[in-house]
Amino acid sequence: MRVAIASDHAGFDQKPALVDYIAGRGHEVIDLGPSQALRCDYPDFADKVARKVASGEADRGVLICGTGIGMAVTADKVPGVRAAVIQTPQFAELFREHNDGNVLCVSGRFTPLATNEEIVDKFLDTEFAGGRHEGRVAKAMREDDPSFAGVPEDLDVQG
Ligand code: RB5
Repeated sequence: MRVAIASDHAGFDQKPALVDYIAGRGHEVIDLGPSQALRCDYPDFADKVARKVASGEADRGVLICGTGIGMAVTADKVPGVRAAVIQTPQFAELFREHNDGNVLCVSGRFTPLATNEEIVDKFLDTEFAGGRHEGRVAKAMREDDPSFAGVPEDLDVQG
């Protein structure tokens, strides 16, 4: 798998270890920076990774910032991307199984490296379950389409 990865300064400490970890598992890693631990803006690096995934040049993306939140907020705005902040391996598994997540965002300040490695394992190894999740993911992706006018206000569950 081709995995694009980037961080900001707050995620920089864990980036080399995660690059090595992912490469060590036999994946091709595309390191999109930064190259130094200087203060920088997470949206710039989230954008680079998200666009690599959206264009198909990478199969998955991994982003590391202080909390993972800013990376997810930014990456998710790129059409075709399904990004989320993940703090446990179980959530990583469900992110793949239920949401077909393609950009993983983790915290370099609050989640230990060993846990982020386990999270990465689940993110890269778990298949999308499809089935009932297929239509829901397709509905989520309607939001990428500027011509989608939204669901009717009176939409409710069928009793
Ligand atoms: C940087 O201080 C911090 O705001 C950033 O790494 C991230 O946590 C934002 O969501």
